[in-house]
Amino acid sequence: MSEALYVGIDLGTSRSSIVASSGARVWMESYVGWPKDFIAQKVLGRQVLFGREALEHRLSLELYRPLERGVIKEGIERNEEAVRELIAHLVSMVKPEKGQKLYAIVGVPADTLKVNKLAIRKAVAEFVHSLMVVSEPFAVAYGLELLDNAMIIDIGAGTVDFCIMHGAIPTEADQKTIYTAGDYIDEQLYSYLSDKYPNSRFTMTMVRKFKEQHAFVGEPPGKVQVELPVDGKPVLHDITTELRRACESILPPIVDTAAEMIARFDPEFQAKVKNNIVLAGGGSLIRGIASYIQDNLKEFGPCKVRTVEDPLFAGSEGALKLAQDMPEKYWEEL
Ligand SMILES: Nc1ncnc2c1ncn2[C@@H]1O[C@H](COP(=O)(O)OP(=O)(O)OP(=O)(O)O)[C@@H](O)[C@H]1O
Ligand SMILES: [Mg+2]
Repeated sequence: MSEALYVGIDLGTSRSSIVASSGARVWMESYVGWPKDFIAQKVLGRQVLFGREALEHRLSLELYRPLERGVIKEGIERNEEAVRELIAHLVSMVKPEKGQKLYAIVGVPADTLKVNKLAIRKAVAEFVHSLMVVSEPFAVAYGLELLDNAMIIDIGAGTVDFCIMHGAIPTEADQKTIYTAGDYIDEQLYSYLSDKYPNSRFTMTMVRKFKEQHAFVGEPPGKVQVELPVDGKPVLHDITTELRRACESILPPIVDTAAEMIARFDPEFQAKVKNNIVLAGGGSLIRGIASYIQDNLKEFGPCKVRTVEDPLFAGSEGALKLAQDMPEKYWEEL
């Protein structure tokens, strides 16, 4: 019998990743799609599609982003099924050997943890031997060994998750979730661009791509121009002001929530936490975001904000580390 395989999974609204004790590392966009009808099935030649591929064929699919809004939408069976497919697919990509025992730690947005741990457990029971579900920011903190006097701010697609670490497993009181994150920026940008360029054609997917290429807050690094079709012809559009406004729209609630959580924390340790704030998640890739937040938190005293090095894998790497460190008795058998 081969040795057990430990995996850390970061289950995100927009992207999910897995790393395994075998060294495998994979990420995908969190889309699952089933062919709409008989013709679609014939065209696609498969029962279910994932990630980018599902997105590309979205016109032939019933497409799901099962963790949208940070929870597996309760009562929608297909969403639970989509989560199961998603996890099964992620696990298959790290190629466990036949019969190999799988120990998985799954990091999910903090509010999913409250609402739907059970659904996730059910979803993976078939192919995982033992499981633990933790909040994403906790997984990130564990991976970075930021276990004491630190604050993690995970800026994802559906949610921004905050977590204060104080030398023990964080409880509900140490965590907070707000819902103005990456998707919100996309919606804002889409609406600003629709107002400014009513005759140009673009989709939410294009807008998200522009954001991921050029996102910034504060002083513009230069003019941001993108190509959009007008009457079928590609035309350059200046989106600098709109992009900045959209990206900056998520910052005030982030600053306020961080300040409020720190203010509630034990006063003797507040200064330490303030000097140890770490941004994670895809949103931490927005240019200038760490210094913007740092400057705006300064009115509450000196502070230091930095960004994780590898936002795509910080959560899953942390979850794997936790899986490998965790004593046997803490695992729940499924
Ligand atoms: N270079 C970039 N600049 C700005 N935003 C980015 C960049 N790359 C990705 N993003 C955005 O980050 C978000 C995805 O981040 P991440 O993968 O951490 O989220 P998630 O884990 O899927 O979501 P959640 O944590 O809400 O479940 C998306 O909104 C995406 O558009
Ligand atoms: Mg995430």
